[in-house]
Amino acid sequence: MYGSSGSSPVKKVTVPDLRARKGGEKIAMVTAYDYTMARLVDEAGVDMVLVGDSLGMVVQGLTTTIPVTMDEMAYHCRAVARGLGHAHLVGDLPFMSYQVSPQQAVESAGKLMKEGACESIKLEGGQEVAEHVHRIVRAGVPVVGHIGLTPQSVHALGGFKVQGRGQDGAEKVLADAIALEQAGAFAIVLEAIPPDLAAQITELLSIPTIGIGAGAGCDGQVLVCTDLLGLARGHQPKFAKRFANLGEAAVDAFTAYVTEVRAGTFPAAAQSYKPNAAPVSGRHPTATADDFDAPLALDLWH
Ligand code: KIV
Repeated sequence: MYGSSGSSPVKKVTVPDLRARKGGEKIAMVTAYDYTMARLVDEAGVDMVLVGDSLGMVVQGLTTTIPVTMDEMAYHCRAVARGLGHAHLVGDLPFMSYQVSPQQAVESAGKLMKEGACESIKLEGGQEVAEHVHRIVRAGVPVVGHIGLTPQSVHALGGFKVQGRGQDGAEKVLADAIALEQAGAFAIVLEAIPPDLAAQITELLSIPTIGIGAGAGCDGQVLVCTDLLGLARGHQPKFAKRFANLGEAAVDAFTAYVTEVRAGTFPAAAQSYKPNAAPVSGRHPTATADDFDAPLALDLWH
């Protein structure tokens, strides 16, 4: 599938492309929640963009992802889809949109593909959702699994904690990974597990693993865009490397704006339209439809 960005044609990253990266060039995945961020990550050459239900925490300011709804996911996925010419778009199924039954899972996956313009879906869980994954895949929807720390189960797990510790913990994550591969998932996110376990799973599976807090031995990595850009405030997970400090840059810019507005130095002539040639009379003529037609509206940009 070919879209266009400027004058050069851009190839869309497909599910077979991603599967073919197993053991080869690592896959770079990042979250995005709106059109502007989607344009930026796409321009940077990211392979996969995830509209994560982390939007509950990142965009909505919630303390967990649990309240996020299907309609909210579809809304953000649509916005992101409009900004992507190259990267593959994955939409997250939110809490209780798939756990109830395989049929509910197929219906929710279909909704996110149709209303969110996604190219695949992601869901959390291992052996307990294998049948759900199988049914979604059979319906023609590519699935990314997500095991280890699964934030929708934060209360059952007792917090946002590292998973796969000890023999039993490691065996459970391993069994979950195998179950998802057998159910037909085309990739699996491994979140917050020991790096040796992630490397072992990566070695064992024939589909790509994408790590977040799972070490360098995975087939790819995913980060939340606001963590990566240094936009997030407050506590950061250990694995969230800042590749920039845009939060500080943004506060500096807003502070400068406040200062200039208060000093009356913004807007200057460069940001103002040409003054009227003759001074206006004291009359207030009624606006006509002509004042609002399209050419005039476009003139506002010049
Ligand atoms: O919701 C999300 O952003 C995620 C990633 C952290 C993998 O699930």
